[in-house]
Amino acid sequence: MPQAGQKYVLVMVGLPARGKSYTARKLARYLRWLGYPTRVFNAGELRRHKLGTGYSAAFFDPGNADGQRALEAMARESFGQLTDWLLREGRIGIFDATNTTRERREWIRKLCDGRGLEPVFVEVINDDPAAIEENIRANKLGSPDYEGTPLAEAVRDFRRRIAHYERAYVQVDDPEGSYLKLIDRHRKIVSHRIDGWIPARIVGFLTNLRITERPVLLTRHGESSFNQEGRIGGDPPLSPGGRGFAAELGAYLSRRFGGEGAEVWTSTMRRTVETAAPLDLPVREWRSLDEIDAGICDGLTYEEIRRRHPQEHAARTRDKLRYRYPRGESYQDVIQRLDRVIIELERQNSPVLVISHQAVMRALYAYFADVAAERIPHVPVPLHTLIELTPRAYDCIEERIALTADAA
Ligand code: F6P
Repeated sequence: MPQAGQKYVLVMVGLPARGKSYTARKLARYLRWLGYPTRVFNAGELRRHKLGTGYSAAFFDPGNADGQRALEAMARESFGQLTDWLLREGRIGIFDATNTTRERREWIRKLCDGRGLEPVFVEVINDDPAAIEENIRANKLGSPDYEGTPLAEAVRDFRRRIAHYERAYVQVDDPEGSYLKLIDRHRKIVSHRIDGWIPARIVGFLTNLRITERPVLLTRHGESSFNQEGRIGGDPPLSPGGRGFAAELGAYLSRRFGGEGAEVWTSTMRRTVETAAPLDLPVREWRSLDEIDAGICDGLTYEEIRRRHPQEHAARTRDKLRYRYPRGESYQDVIQRLDRVIIELERQNSPVLVISHQAVMRALYAYFADVAAERIPHVPVPLHTLIELTPRAYDCIEERIALTADAA
């Protein structure tokens, strides 16, 4: 039974080119962002590092005893690195390897038992030939295993490698314990004996993950009267410069989307709602996108906080991520309330523009750009700048567009 502080081992299972690494990395980024120390351990990378590259499909043949011994040794070593790290400082270790035999999963379970580690198998099943082909071409042919090999030969060899794994593959079954099966690009999800807060977050995240590539645009509201005075929080209106920015943003977006195919999400605060007013796109207001609640410091300047609440100022300077304003919030609190927004963003098939506030922008940006927790409260997010992010399989393209703010 998972307890408070339970450590988890997520064991990826599946044939090559099914999207295991993609899922593992996406999950790791999400879990780290939520505040759980999470790392992916990839047996293939360790193999390439220790044994070198250039192994053809014959190496992976279940009938090749030397090959099997070497692969098994690499898997054990990689898993050992995972458990060392997890027992020392981690919360969630993700074991990214094929793990397609019951014997392999059995020793994994034995190594977890008795050390307080809870294994959860995450099996990726996808038999659509077009998706497999796309995965091979996009992710496998660039691998150091195929450096210098002509394209057609590399594809043929990789298919032979998959066929070897297929011969020995046994899907995860109920007696093996907790598992989650992601079938046909997450269209069907089967879960078995999943309980606890973290496993539930994982199911919620993976159920909503879409693989479509589309941009997410982030911007702060236009300059407000509080920004001009250097005051934090409150619910002030836009300044003339802020209204100028809203007009520029509207013009930019209509050039870009022509009034359709994209959505705008704002907070419930006046300055974001006013920024969205000139936009010719459907708008949705979210309370979760409201600025960090500065509690007793709301409406003050940073200088006033330093004079009137010197201890609060010092505590925030020491640990800006965890510091919670009295009767207000911390950055960590903001991240927790943005979980729903992230899941909802992951579900979208078309572009979304989020108009929000400095602390919220930092937290949202950190999810997409995989910013380390301690850095989140310091990410630069200037006013009147549109940040366009396009998450891809293994990275995220970022473009920052400065829009001039002529006074309206
Ligand atoms: O100053 C604008 C603002 O959005 C405030 O309302 C908010 O308290 C602050 O930025 C958040 O930034 P920081 O965490 O750096 O104080």
